[in-house]
Amino acid sequence: MANSSSIRHHRIGSAAVIEINRPPVNAINHDIRAGLIAALAAVAADGEVERIILAGAGDIFAAGADAGEFDLPMMQPDLPTVVAALESAPMPVIAAIKGACLGGGLELALACCWRIAAPTAQLGLPEVILGVVPGSGGTQRLPRLVGMKTALSMIPEGRGIRAAEALEIGLVDQQDDDPVAAALALPLADLDGRPPVSRLPAPSSAPEAAEAALAKARRRMPRQRAPEEAIRLVGLAASHAFDDALKEERATFLRLRDGDECRALRHIFFAERGARTPARLKAVPPAPLDSTIVVGGGTMGAGIAHALARAGSAVTLIERDDAALDAARQRMAGLYDAAVRRGLVQARLAAAEQGAIRFQAGYDGIDTAGLVIEAVFEDMQVKRNVLTALDRAAPDAVLASNTSYLDIDLMAGCLADPSRLVGLHFFSPAHIMKLLEIVRGARTSDHALATGYALAKRLRKIPVEVGVCDGFVGNRMLQRVREAAELLLLDGAEVVQIDRVMRGFGYAMGLYETQDMSGLDIAWANRRRQQATRDPERRYSKVQDQVCEAGWLGRKAGRGWYIYEDGKPVGLNPDVAPLVAAESARHGITRQALADDAVMQTLLLALINEAACILDEGIAGAAADIDLVLVHGYGFPRFRGGPLCHADSMGTGMIRDRIAALQKTDPVIWKLSPLIDRLAAAGKGFLD
Ligand code: NAI
Repeated sequence: MANSSSIRHHRIGSAAVIEINRPPVNAINHDIRAGLIAALAAVAADGEVERIILAGAGDIFAAGADAGEFDLPMMQPDLPTVVAALESAPMPVIAAIKGACLGGGLELALACCWRIAAPTAQLGLPEVILGVVPGSGGTQRLPRLVGMKTALSMIPEGRGIRAAEALEIGLVDQQDDDPVAAALALPLADLDGRPPVSRLPAPSSAPEAAEAALAKARRRMPRQRAPEEAIRLVGLAASHAFDDALKEERATFLRLRDGDECRALRHIFFAERGARTPARLKAVPPAPLDSTIVVGGGTMGAGIAHALARAGSAVTLIERDDAALDAARQRMAGLYDAAVRRGLVQARLAAAEQGAIRFQAGYDGIDTAGLVIEAVFEDMQVKRNVLTALDRAAPDAVLASNTSYLDIDLMAGCLADPSRLVGLHFFSPAHIMKLLEIVRGARTSDHALATGYALAKRLRKIPVEVGVCDGFVGNRMLQRVREAAELLLLDGAEVVQIDRVMRGFGYAMGLYETQDMSGLDIAWANRRRQQATRDPERRYSKVQDQVCEAGWLGRKAGRGWYIYEDGKPVGLNPDVAPLVAAESARHGITRQALADDAVMQTLLLALINEAACILDEGIAGAAADIDLVLVHGYGFPRFRGGPLCHADSMGTGMIRDRIAALQKTDPVIWKLSPLIDRLAAAGKGFLD
């Protein structure tokens, strides 16, 4: 058997300690699998070993199979082979578990005859999160050990548990600060006659728990196959012989592994992990973040200040006047109340943290702050006034704007040193949403960019660097898809239909439902701003403006595209349809019913074409960045991997042909992105 660089073993008395050593997370790859088989053979040949202790080097057992190998042909030995070898070892194998023991890591531990966990251990089978099911016995061994009901509460949603709970449910046998020492001290007699987990009696079936798990999976991970398959497989533990169920588990794992859902989820998983300070900025020191200023304490400013304070920064919040300060204070109190209610922070700590936030009108005493973020009204003049004041008041700080659409370069023009302005586009609610668009202006310095990345790290957000254009990546694409939807309405689609097909595709909410929820006024103000520069040749539907002019600003107004009673939608707003009919007539369109598929496809093609333009213009650096923005900021279904990952599953050739067909009907709106044309000609996808 090949030498393994990731597995080492040594003797302590009559015990052999086999260690998995592949930093940072001991992700199980071929080298580990081959190494484990070799180590087991060597230990068995030793003749004096009475027990084997399987542990992870460092503070981790194994965080799961290496998903990077999913794209490669399966190399032997596979994990089921290793699991079987562990379970049939000629001497007892004890798992000594610290830190993450997840997925394939837990499947290894389940093949051991005794499990000892440190209090920090985290155990679970999170495979469904990557679009697969456990493929090495997890769905069969876990229910044998902890019962059907508990297994059904873990595997289908990928829920992990801590050591204490694992001990309580019988997943581990013992808890100890030093699991290896405890494994050495364990009297071997305690293990005598202990059957391997696979030979434990089959669990009783639990049809009600299965029903409940299915309902929950459909609610929380709608349209995804892996959770439902996991529920089915766990059920087999009660109805099928172990070996038969194991075969079915493996076949299901391999099928899902090669499918679109797993490919998409893996793509997003790796994109998230890759979203961090790029190599070119690694050596650039960021501004210190221990003291920060937020200007504007409205919806966004309060959320940003809250996130900063929660991350341990000393925050000063600046508002226009005393009345606005009071409102900001109340908003902040509301955020802390919610955090306490949700158990995120203890009341006493929350009070102290909130008490330490300084609220002030004016810019006195902020000259030592490292970073100032403005979140004032979305108005160029207001923003420039604020930046002019900051230029003097905070001469050394990195300055950031949370603008949604406005030109960072134009803003930077009012600074003596324009290089210190960077866009930091948070998403609402700013303390919850993970995405942070870092907007690189023409003159933004590396220092300012590095500060943006450092902030993302401190706030545990996902940074995506973008260039300057109207709306950057996310809002630019949102505008485009809204335009496409508006025109579909004129052509014959219905508001409810658009929302329904989007939900059917996997969005949690449709476009119009989302607009009602966030309020229609921001986009309306933005359209008015763009009015003067809009191409008069470009088809434009006035319906969206008429809805706003009527005061139907969404849920908060009790009426938008839908009607709301006590904040709940009770039906479509009946007054919208006549507006649509009149606008269609004005455009000379005879409305015709549109098929659901055609509606969804048009929306997707609009998104994909715009994304391709954004990529081609260099506004985004990589397809994965655009996918991250859409998944984390705009509700694009994660299991579809983002618009460009999804585009690859459609095929760039087909996309080119369909956009070309649309271009014939409306050449102003539909201009095929040159990038799609090039990719299609080369037979390539966006992610190639
Ligand atoms: P908001 O209207 O809730 O808050 C703006 C705050 O700025 C108000 O409290 C106002 O009193 C304060 N303000 C105005 N002029 C000021 C000045 N000269 N000095 C100090 N404070 C001043 O607006 P919101 O929604 O918080 O938006 C703020 C910024 O964030 C805008 O640029 C917006 O485009 C952007 N944004 C908004 C998102 C949203 O969903 N609301 C999402 C992402 C970005």
